[in-house]
Amino acid sequence: MMEGVKRKVIQPDQRLIKTYLCKGCNRQVRQKELTIPIGPYKGDKTIANYGCICEDIKLAEKTKRARSRLKRNRLVNCFNYYSLINHSLKQATLENYNPTSEDLRMAKQKALGYIESFNGEQNLLFTGDFGTGKSHLSIYITKKLMEQDYNCLFLSLPKLLTKIKQTYNKSDITEDELLDVIQQVDLLVIDDIGSEQRTEWSVSKFFEILDNRAGKATIYTTNLNSAELKQRVNERNFSRIMENTEVIVMKGEDYRRRNF
Ligand SMILES: Nc1ncnc2c1ncn2[C@@H]1O[C@H](COP(=O)(O)OP(=O)(O)O)[C@@H](O)[C@H]1O
Ligand SMILES: [Mg+2]
Ligand SMILES: [Zn+2]
Repeated sequence: MMEGVKRKVIQPDQRLIKTYLCKGCNRQVRQKELTIPIGPYKGDKTIANYGCICEDIKLAEKTKRARSRLKRNRLVNCFNYYSLINHSLKQATLENYNPTSEDLRMAKQKALGYIESFNGEQNLLFTGDFGTGKSHLSIYITKKLMEQDYNCLFLSLPKLLTKIKQTYNKSDITEDELLDVIQQVDLLVIDDIGSEQRTEWSVSKFFEILDNRAGKATIYTTNLNSAELKQRVNERNFSRIMENTEVIVMKGEDYRRRNF
């Protein structure tokens, strides 16, 4: 019975041409010449490589890339970039930034220079008075770099910490996933350091974030001077912030009160 079934299976004539090691997948490949057994092309010869899994690998890698792109998009979207930025700051450009002091003129120049020479490693610290445009210039930098396809995130430290806390309860993403995005973006702006609620947890979480970003570009903004900042975030966080960082002092009037 089995014999009968076997005989009905039409096998093409095969002739082994060679075996070789595929440089792509590192497998031993048997190259054969097949003679087509039936149909309109009956008798035609064709070459087939058996054992090569290059195509499978390519497909798997493509699927993996697509999946991780999807995931990254989902995570970046969960921050809803623009929803975390207040309305007036959404309009921030370099053209509509009117420096009202020498400090601020310099700061504007530095912001421009930072964009032009962006290398994904240099950090900035904007420090100075309230309402002088520290957030304004930081947002402008992220907008410009995003136009160049860099992934950027602008988050105030209090909002960032709140976001992390939310993942402890009901959330569609985990803390690990969230910290992953924060770690991976090409540029992270940590805005308003010093306005967060200071707890042991916030200080150590802040360190984790800074530590994860070692070697990647980060912009910090704060109303605190360096002594206050050091006290506020603790010595260890302070040294991390200062690593490879250009400090830009922004002393001036609160721009929102300029007409008073
Ligand atoms: N020199 C300036 N020219 C134009 N707009 C400014 C200037 N400085 C601040 N602003 C605007 O004033 C508001 C407060 O600035 P912001 O960047 O939030 O200040 P900071 O972060 O330094 O406290 C924002 O809407 C910003 O766009
Ligand atoms: Mg600000
Ligand atoms: Zn191969």
